[in-house]
Amino acid sequence: MIYNNTMQIRDAQPSDKQAVLEFCKETFSWGDYIADVWDSWILQGNLFVAVENDTPIGLSHLVFRDNRQAWLEGIRVHPNHRRKGYGRKIISYCESIANSKTIRMIIESDNTPSIDLARSMGYDIEDWWRLYALVPKKETSSVVTASDVNQVSRFVSSNTYVDSWKWLPLENPDLEELIQQKRILLSAQNGRILAKQRL
Ligand SMILES: CC(C)(COP(=O)(O)OP(=O)(O)OC[C@H]1O[C@@H](n2cnc3c(N)ncnc32)[C@H](O)[C@@H]1OP(=O)(O)O)[C@@H](O)C(=O)NCCC(=O)NCCS
Repeated sequence: MIYNNTMQIRDAQPSDKQAVLEFCKETFSWGDYIADVWDSWILQGNLFVAVENDTPIGLSHLVFRDNRQAWLEGIRVHPNHRRKGYGRKIISYCESIANSKTIRMIIESDNTPSIDLARSMGYDIEDWWRLYALVPKKETSSVVTASDVNQVSRFVSSNTYVDSWKWLPLENPDLEELIQQKRILLSAQNGRILAKQRL
């Protein structure tokens, strides 16, 4: 746990949920996704809250992916408590937990506060990720979950994949795990597999 005059950072507890979701309702123009991930992040661990008088006013989730990398996602500071240095303290806290592993985060290119915060702490832009949305053709297709790597490998042209706000390596063991979790869908027409999608 770290302290400044009034703010502390500690592990999140299930009982923090309501207060966190209260200040994470309208983070972005479209809302926020913290309500959808809170329960799984609590289970995964390394979910931290910044608190004043034990009331949550900040959040972050640190994810370790094997020994190679750590990802920081869901950094939030209550709108009434911004520009007090709390965002910086939350990141510093996560850095101390990550114990000199390289930390990465995905930030939307128009999120100036967050980009400036990261830059002010010495983070560099490593890569750009462009998000495209496609409208499906109105043709009937059937969807099944993938059952083995050979079915999907020809559709995989990248050695990374995006999971929430993390960009993770995608190698055969990762594909196998995703298949086991039934998180890879295949789209077929007349029995011919045409595309894959990860849940
Ligand atoms: C981004 C966010 C976490 C910053 O939290 P914060 O507590 O206000 O940040 P800090 O007070 O620690 O600011 C540290 C530095 O970040 C930069 N920064 C923070 N807010 C900024 C803003 N609105 N505009 C420009 N730079 C900003 C500045 O360099 C600042 O240093 P300074 O105050 O000495 O100029 C907060 O604005 C937030 O919760 N935003 C919505 C959620 C979000 O975008 N999360 C990140 C997703 S990747």
